[in-house]
Amino acid sequence: MTELELMPGVEASPLALLLLGRQRDPDSERGVDCPGDLPPASDPTLVARARAAKDALGDRVFVLGHHYQRDEVIAFADVTGDSFKLAQQAAARPEAEFVVFCGVHFMAESADVLTGPDQAVVLPDLAAGCSMADMATFEQVEECWDVLVEAGVADDVVPVSYMNSSAAIKAFTGRHGGTICTSSNAARALTWAYGKGEKVLFLPDQHLGRNTAVREMGLTLDDCVLYDPHKPGGGLTAQQLRDARMILWKGHCSVHGRFTVDSVREVRERVPGVTVLVHPECRHEVVEAADLVGSTEFIIKALEAAPAGSAWAIGTELNLVRRLAQAHPDKTVVFLDRTVCFCSTMNRIDLPHLVWALEELVAGRVPNRIVVDPVEAAQARAALDQMLALP
Ligand code: 13P
Ligand code: SF4
Repeated sequence: MTELELMPGVEASPLALLLLGRQRDPDSERGVDCPGDLPPASDPTLVARARAAKDALGDRVFVLGHHYQRDEVIAFADVTGDSFKLAQQAAARPEAEFVVFCGVHFMAESADVLTGPDQAVVLPDLAAGCSMADMATFEQVEECWDVLVEAGVADDVVPVSYMNSSAAIKAFTGRHGGTICTSSNAARALTWAYGKGEKVLFLPDQHLGRNTAVREMGLTLDDCVLYDPHKPGGGLTAQQLRDARMILWKGHCSVHGRFTVDSVREVRERVPGVTVLVHPECRHEVVEAADLVGSTEFIIKALEAAPAGSAWAIGTELNLVRRLAQAHPDKTVVFLDRTVCFCSTMNRIDLPHLVWALEELVAGRVPNRIVVDPVEAAQARAALDQMLALP
């Protein structure tokens, strides 16, 4: 059972959501508290305080915001983007002393790998992790590689790891001559990888791997096998591994995994003429039932290019879908599912945490700095650089 260190008077429960920045989960990589006092969310001066702190820091700070962040946080981002654009941007600002990453832990780690040693990457709430990234631990992935070696296929395998993975997994990928990918360049990454080896080990999102392999690389579902890290040998025989072209890790996004074929059917009945546009982290059958599939940047551009009067159902995180609906009042933009579907960890970065982080920087303290071990960082960098150099 997870042991939670709690505020006095708060009862432990393994299922309890940690109070934002005020509690720690010592069993989790990200479970560290925010020292000092967080301003209360009800503080009416928060917007002014964030503005004042950002102005005081000037060019010393660069604030990045992922598309799934809350509106109150996006309002202070110098650049917004999907994980690929944010990785590029983090690498492109060597003059910024502080990079405040409004996103999740694996993104901040990648930013630390891609920025210079004198730049500090700050994650305003260290509890902003990613359940998908947590589905592939370093030990499990090393064990998987041993299974591939034993099956006699490791020499034919090129690892392709989704950005949504820890720095340790990215380092593993670099060590084995692989590449990182994001949802906006997964097909290019697979094309590169199949030019190098006969098989791909795709970590940790089975859906992005399967959707890209089958829809964009001409592979069949039978070419794909699912490696389950919780089963001996991944639950696969050596023969299955020898026959496979795509070895998918059994991981998924709990946000995008919620959309179903029924959600698609239901929205088509509810909104006549609707175009269903989903993120490739959605399950294969949902992507097949949709009209279009693409990364968050693709989704944003598709909406920008859409004619007035058109109707869209979007299958991705709700903060982004709400902003798209507000930005396009001349179009009908609805959420693909009837139930609310925020990413709870993305949502942990809120205005109080951003204000706290910026004010700490103004006071000369660097809070919640994300630092990747230098050896791991060098290996992870090889895999990230490979992604940035994909043709
Ligand atoms: P992109 O930013 O690559 O679209 O990925 C979506 C996501 O789930 C990020 O965590
Ligand atoms: Fe992770 Fe999914 Fe949240 Fe992205 S949306 S951070 S993949 S849980």
